[in-house]
Amino acid sequence: MTKDFASAADRAAFIAGLPKAELHLHIEGSLEPDLMFALAQRNGVAIPFASAEEVRAAYAFSNLQDFLDIYYQGMGVLQTERDFHDLTAAYLARARADGVRHVEIFFDPQGHTARGIAFETVVTGITRALDAARTEHGLTSKLILCFLRHLSEAEAEATLDEALPFLDRIDGVGLDSSEVGHPPSKFERVFARARNLGLKLVAHAGEEGPPAYVREALDLLHVDRIDHGNRSLEDDALVARLAGEGMTLTVCPLSNLKLCVVDDLAAHPLKTMLDAGLAATVNSDDPSYFGGYVNANYQAVADALDLSKADLVALARNSFTGSFLSDADKAMHLAAIDAYA
Ligand code: HPA
Ligand code: ZN
Repeated sequence: MTKDFASAADRAAFIAGLPKAELHLHIEGSLEPDLMFALAQRNGVAIPFASAEEVRAAYAFSNLQDFLDIYYQGMGVLQTERDFHDLTAAYLARARADGVRHVEIFFDPQGHTARGIAFETVVTGITRALDAARTEHGLTSKLILCFLRHLSEAEAEATLDEALPFLDRIDGVGLDSSEVGHPPSKFERVFARARNLGLKLVAHAGEEGPPAYVREALDLLHVDRIDHGNRSLEDDALVARLAGEGMTLTVCPLSNLKLCVVDDLAAHPLKTMLDAGLAATVNSDDPSYFGGYVNANYQAVADALDLSKADLVALARNSFTGSFLSDADKAMHLAAIDAYA
């Protein structure tokens, strides 16, 4: 045990009170089994589970695709503006309880429009909850539209077209879903268009895909952040570049464990990333499916890697530095971390 804390409980208490931002959260991945059941009933949607316990038992994955199959099925209960609001409000309440001061939320519109749900229904429901959290609790947010990379670039272009009337509510675009076989290069043109629209850019890369995908995200998509990025560590020159550029990595420890990106949290690369000078952050990805919100992720990886107070403070600082907040807002949050630590 690091000398910084008397016990694991002492470290957990420090984590709980640490001001933090969450930068990698798929709102559809925060759909808890209980809400899934409630929405299925409210909307008269059939789901292939008899109880919330049965749903949880189905959450055993051996890779990303295993998870994605269940994730796309789960989001089928989301039908109305109120559903998207309730989903988002539930996540924001959990985040606030974890000391989260700012969130940058992903959503997957193609997972909904393909089912006949209007883009407007999705965005309106999510942003109504985001607005309420901001005005009622001072919890700030950004919204990031993710393109599903297993679909075509033409379909991503059509989704960006649908987003045009809502660009006052959308801060960036990202790239998620099945990584291997769908490299960033496939989306070079739509990302260029998003960049010209003034949107921030992120992409999942190096979760299951090779370091070359991380390089493509940097060189072809010109991303502002890399989501996951774990496999960057296989390429020393890439690590040096990411460190030199101060590129933020949005790392998701419990996701990595559940999707078998790592066999054991004791083998998680987070500490190696920090020691290599990488701007790593800790995030929950799809907390309902992977067994924990942001504090659970900090705690599990801190225990497994015996993270010090300086490590935890660096992770929290990176979460604001790597956010899309203004410099003044970043400075305010960094000062709050320093005051706390
Ligand atoms: N990886 C890729 N796509 C996703 C994920 C993820 O962790 N979560 C939701 N969509
Ligand atoms: Zn993700």
